[in-house]
Amino acid sequence: MDPDVYARALAGEAIADGEPTAWFERLYSAAADGVAVVPWDKGVPHTLLAGWAQRGGVRGDGRRALVVGAGLGRDAEFLSGLGFAVTAFDISASAIRSARARHAGTRVDYRQADLFDPPGEWHAAFDLVVESMTVQSLPDPPRASAIPLVGRFVAPGGTLLVIATGRDPETDFAGPPWPLTRAEIDAFAVDDLVVDRVEDIREPGATLFGWRAELHRPRG
Ligand SMILES: C[S@@+](CC[C@H](N)C(=O)[O-])C[C@H]1O[C@@H](n2cnc3c(N)ncnc32)[C@H](O)[C@@H]1O
Repeated sequence: MDPDVYARALAGEAIADGEPTAWFERLYSAAADGVAVVPWDKGVPHTLLAGWAQRGGVRGDGRRALVVGAGLGRDAEFLSGLGFAVTAFDISASAIRSARARHAGTRVDYRQADLFDPPGEWHAAFDLVVESMTVQSLPDPPRASAIPLVGRFVAPGGTLLVIATGRDPETDFAGPPWPLTRAEIDAFAVDDLVVDRVEDIREPGATLFGWRAELHRPRG
């Protein structure tokens, strides 16, 4: 079966059962057993993350980075390669097991955790937080309540990078994913987080496009 069709079928069942995040574990578990393909398993970092790092000449220099909804670790490994001390979490235990197995000898600290109930010590603890395509993988509810949680991991002086598929408000899209509107991007700016730049990356005439948003938390 087409990977997107299979993932959507799993998502539909889980949402109908009132468990909108349960399908991720089912999908990663099936993939680990070789009976499904994870549609976003590209094996390379997201192009909007790699492009952002290249444009800014970003280097980690041992600073702490957190990858939210890290999946199989493509972005986490990229950031580790730039010199960040990376923690990467996902709600799916199978995703975390597969990421550790795939990147044997990795310096990334892969952890199973839920964005809705993260370890307390992660609060305001990271110099860079990357959220790529996680919030958009949730229906609403609970998407609207997930968005403000992401920025809470950012330390004073730190950066939040949000990468997502975008849609104009008048465009409906039957997810997953549920592409984000500009209002949803702006909703990442909780507490004292400041939006520095929002890029709307689209081909002329395209219905969907890419968001790349950079926010920072002032140093106290
Ligand atoms: C579309 S995938 C993107 C994965 C990864 N960011 C990538 O680009 O390869 C969304 C990911 O978010 C994870 N996820 C969904 N809800 C989550 C939650 N509440 N807490 C942590 N991870 C979650 C899923 O398990 C899945 O790996």
